[in-house]
Amino acid sequence: MNPIPLLHEKHILLGVTGSIAAYKAVDLASKLTQAGALVDVILTDSAARFVTPLAFGSVTGRAVYTDMWALDAHVRHVGLGEAADLLLIAPATAHTLSKLAYGQADNLLTLTALAARCPIVVAPAMDGGMWQHPATRANVATLSERGVLFAGPVEGRMASGLSGMGRMLEPLELLGEARRVLARGGPLAGRHVVVTTGPTREALDPVRFISNRSSGKQGMAMAQAALDAGARVTLIAGPTCELPPYGALVVAVQTTQEMGEATLAGTADADALLMVAAVADFRPQTVADRKIKKTENAQWGLAIGLEKTLDILTAVKERRDRTGFPRIVLGFAAETHNAFEYGRDKLLRKGLDFIAVNDVMAEGAGFAVETNRVILLGRGGVVEEMPLQSKAAVAERLIEHVAGALGND
Ligand code: CTP
Repeated sequence: MNPIPLLHEKHILLGVTGSIAAYKAVDLASKLTQAGALVDVILTDSAARFVTPLAFGSVTGRAVYTDMWALDAHVRHVGLGEAADLLLIAPATAHTLSKLAYGQADNLLTLTALAARCPIVVAPAMDGGMWQHPATRANVATLSERGVLFAGPVEGRMASGLSGMGRMLEPLELLGEARRVLARGGPLAGRHVVVTTGPTREALDPVRFISNRSSGKQGMAMAQAALDAGARVTLIAGPTCELPPYGALVVAVQTTQEMGEATLAGTADADALLMVAAVADFRPQTVADRKIKKTENAQWGLAIGLEKTLDILTAVKERRDRTGFPRIVLGFAAETHNAFEYGRDKLLRKGLDFIAVNDVMAEGAGFAVETNRVILLGRGGVVEEMPLQSKAAVAERLIEHVAGALGND
C-alpha cells in the first residue's frame, strides 16, 4: 500500500466488535496505517475473543484500547472521540448497531461513539436473517437518519457456510469508503468528473483485434485523484487489468465507437472530462464473422484495410460548443517525437482547455510503468512542467489544475 495524501496523519478511530470478520479488521488497520493514517483501535470484549489487541498494536504501532474501566478511560473516550477525523466501526455486529441506535454507552467503543463529533461509518457483519430482521432494519433506519454512514454489508458467503446478505466489505473497499468520507468537502465536492482510461479494441474477426499498449494506470490514477478531491466520478474504461478505484461508477467499453457514445452520454452534465484513454484511431473496414484462416488466405501475407474511427474529443467539442458541457476538457497526448508541438496542435484542434503531453519514449514515462513525466499545456502555453513522478502524483497535480480552472462557480 502506497501513502495516500488524503489519509496522511488523519486520525482514524477503528472500532472492532465481536464478529469473526474482526480478523479482516487487522488487515484494514494495517492498510490504513501504511497509507499514512494514525489508527487508534478500540476493541470490545467480544472482539478481543476473536482477535487480540496485540495483533492490532503490531500493525498500527499505536496503543489499542479495550477497557472502559481503565483509570484514564473516561478522559480518553472524550479525547479519542474529539481527535478523530473518522470513526470506522468494522465489523459492526447487530448488537452494536442496536446499542448505537439507542445511545447506549456500556463499553469504551459505544461510549466513544457518543462523544465523537466526526463522521461515523459502520461496516455491518452478521449472519442468517439478522440483517433483514425488523429490529435491525429499524436500528439501521434510525442510525441513517442520524447521519451514520453504512458501508455494506454485501451478499456472499458467511463463515457459517450459509450465503446471504450480511457479509462485511473487504478491507480495500473499506479503505475506499474511508477515503470517500474524508474527501467530502474537497475542492471538487459536488462536481461530476468523467474520466476515460485504457486502450480500445477494434475487432478483425471473432478472435483477433487491433489495440495498443495502454495499461489504464494513468487514467485510474486520475479517477482516484478526482474521487479524493470529493468529485462524483464516472470512469469509462477500455479493457485493462487495472482495478478501478472504489467509488467510481464504471462503464466498461471495448471499441472507440462505444467509448465515444459513453463519453457523450456521460458528459451531458459533467463539470470536467479527463480524456486519458489511448483511443484506437483506425479500425478494420470489415470485420470477418468467422476466424480468418491462414490456410485459406495470404500465402504472401494479408492486407487489412483500415478506416478512421470517431474522434471522441472532436465530437465532444461540437456538443460543448452548443451546450457548454463539459465545462472543462483535459486531453492527453502520448507522443514519440516533437511532443510539445504535437501537443499544442492537438489542444487547439480539439478545443481543449488543457493537454497533458508525455513523451512515451522517455525513460520512466508512458505505457505500463508506474511513473510519468508530463508537461501540462493550457491555451496560453505551458502551465507546468512536471518532474518524473508516480502516476498518482501526476494525477493529483493535474486534478489541482482542473479544480482551479473550475473555480467556485
Ligand atoms: N482521442 C479521441 N478520439 C480519438 C483519438 C484520440 O478523443 N479517436 C483523444 C485521446 O484520448 C487524447 C487526445 O485525443 O486525449 C490525443 O490523442 P492522441 O492519440 O495523442 O491524438 P490523435 O488525435 O490520435 O492524433 P495522432 O494520431 O496524430 O497523434
